[in-house]
Amino acid sequence: MPFQLADLRFRIVQAPMAGGPTTPELAAAVGWAGGLGFLAAGYLTPEAVRAQIEQVRKLAGDGALFGVNVFVPQPVAQPYAVAAYREALLPEAAAAGVHLPEPDFADTDFWAEKVHLLMAEPVPVVSFTFGLPTSDVLARLRSVGTYTIGTVTNADEARLAVATGVDALCVQGTEAGGHRGVFDPCALPPATPLTVLLQEVRKVAPRTPIIAAGGISTSAEVAVLLGGVADAVQLGTAFLRAHEAATNPVYRDALVDRAYAQTAVTRAFSGRWARALRTPFIDRHAADAPAAYPAVNQVTKPLRAAAAARRDPSGMSLYAGTGHRHALAAPAAQIMERLTADLPV
Ligand SMILES: Cc1cc2nc3c(=O)[nH]c(=O)nc-3n(C[C@H](O)[C@H](O)[C@H](O)COP(=O)(O)O)c2cc1C
Repeated sequence: MPFQLADLRFRIVQAPMAGGPTTPELAAAVGWAGGLGFLAAGYLTPEAVRAQIEQVRKLAGDGALFGVNVFVPQPVAQPYAVAAYREALLPEAAAAGVHLPEPDFADTDFWAEKVHLLMAEPVPVVSFTFGLPTSDVLARLRSVGTYTIGTVTNADEARLAVATGVDALCVQGTEAGGHRGVFDPCALPPATPLTVLLQEVRKVAPRTPIIAAGGISTSAEVAVLLGGVADAVQLGTAFLRAHEAATNPVYRDALVDRAYAQTAVTRAFSGRWARALRTPFIDRHAADAPAAYPAVNQVTKPLRAAAAARRDPSGMSLYAGTGHRHALAAPAAQIMERLTADLPV
């Protein structure tokens, strides 16, 4: 029997968080606590994704419900703009003692291999961000029993996702931490608050289950959303300080540090708009980072790694949603308990 959101004890989804924070331990713990845990395949090799899937199954049991999230490739070349940005970063790289690589414009994040893996060794749920797969990929995933979710940031994207054949929509409001899933990699992400966006999407997708994401951080917010148009909620930042997450300790502390009280939407780190704790690096490069994901991500990686190595949050990509101050440092089970406190039993 394929997955349905109604199968969950609590309709709470732990967002996939690529780049380190998400672990099989986190996904399994959220599953044990009655939510839906997610693995983040982004930036990983297919072999690493397979190993993480095996680990979740080992921790959560063979029939466990969990999802795997995949980035849809839409590389934007812009070689001159990337070269200019790289040039602008060279003094910072010299100060940090690192070499900035030349971008690989052909990088697809192993898209074909990851899709092949998920067809050959099916998992209960697969979600996509940064655009949509073809309807053929969605149909083939459905034929192996997988429930598919498309991330959308406006009503037009929602309409397209439904027409392409996703089973559910992850509706990502402006408050969301991390990268926005905007289909057009050059477009400015909409500033529509989640509650407004949910109404807009519901109008164009009246029958498709909606998973609400962005800035959700308290049980009261979870209860209001689940009592309204949302069929489930997806939270990332709320799990960043979970004991089972692999979030860098400096990043964990910054989330609740008054010195990092604001968030900003930036493409300075990756070339794709994302919400992060506001840092001097973001302010310095507010205007000069081009729309060129993943090339910019590759170029800035050594700078971010060097900042992490010297325990300097000001140079790290501290992706976070607007509710970061509420992120609890606790086992995932306790975070789930807190998030479900206002739900009817
Ligand atoms: C550190 C971090 C990494 C993220 N990585 C991914 C990812 O790999 N794939 C994805 O679909 N969404 C990713 N997101 C976005 C989440 O799916 C979700 O939209 C977001 O966390 C919701 O906002 P919140 O963080 O305020 O709860 C990430 C978010 C954060 C904070």
